[in-house]
Amino acid sequence: MSLIQETELGNGIVQLTVDRPKALNALNEEVLNELTQVTEKLAKREDLRVVILTGAGRAFVAGADIKAMLEMSPEGALDFSAKGHAAMSSVAKLPVPVIAALNGFALGGGLELALSADLIYASEKAKLGLPEVGLGLVPGFGGTQRLSRLVGPHVARELVFTGKMIDAQKAKEYGIVLEVFSPDDLLDEVIKIAKTIAAKGPSAVRSAKKVMYAGIEQPLEDALLSEQRVFQQLFQSEEPRQGMQAHLERRDPEF
Ligand code: CAA
Repeated sequence: MSLIQETELGNGIVQLTVDRPKALNALNEEVLNELTQVTEKLAKREDLRVVILTGAGRAFVAGADIKAMLEMSPEGALDFSAKGHAAMSSVAKLPVPVIAALNGFALGGGLELALSADLIYASEKAKLGLPEVGLGLVPGFGGTQRLSRLVGPHVARELVFTGKMIDAQKAKEYGIVLEVFSPDDLLDEVIKIAKTIAAKGPSAVRSAKKVMYAGIEQPLEDALLSEQRVFQQLFQSEEPRQGMQAHLERRDPEF
């Protein structure tokens, strides 16, 4: 049985649902491996435009699997963390925008999974947090680094040191969540956003994602040069001409 459900929503939009609801979608080795496999396969698809990540049942993902970690040796813990990092990186490295739709608990490894996405939206029912220190752990799937990069070290330190759970509205105030929707509307709203992105120039969107992330690691002058190169490269395809021609003819482009 698949622990990651893959649903085609048309227009190159694929929904991935972590499907282990009895354990609130906790991430064990099997879930992590499957997530890596599925995303690595998706990454090769040229028709892919947007990926939506969500969870089955009442949780997005309630964290790494505590029962699985209980008896781990230090070597086992390193291996588990490496598998978690591989899964999170395979999500982060998808060449198209990834949207996390937080339908419920997004705790520990669950928040870390959301932080591997490009855009995070939440239902009013969502609860977010990095409770690891309360378990005698640190966030081990990238949370100590990705949260600081998203919202700055101050908020990240508070959430990591206190391990507290915050609601979706507070997460929006912190800049972790972009928008909060009613539980019934969350997926529809996220799909609308995905469709908006999927209607744009696919090479332009992919290039924008690539250059924005690469730029974070570069000095500003180099990053600005990267942007110029990407701008130039797009003109090697028909996409900019199609988009601009459609604009001038006052019609929607068909990419
Ligand atoms: N690992 C394993 N099982 C989990 C789990 C987790 N992270 N979270 C929930 N579950 C299981 C529960 O054990 C329970 O299973 P059983 O029915 O077999 O006992 C089932 O999911 C339902 O959970 P609860 O009965 O606890 O549901 P609740 O509504 O009372 O509480 C909750 C919900 C507050 C989210 C609570 O389940 C909870 O605190 N979960 C753990 C959250 C957490 O600490 N996450 C961080 C994990 S560490 C981590 O992620 C490390 C890392 O970065 C690598």
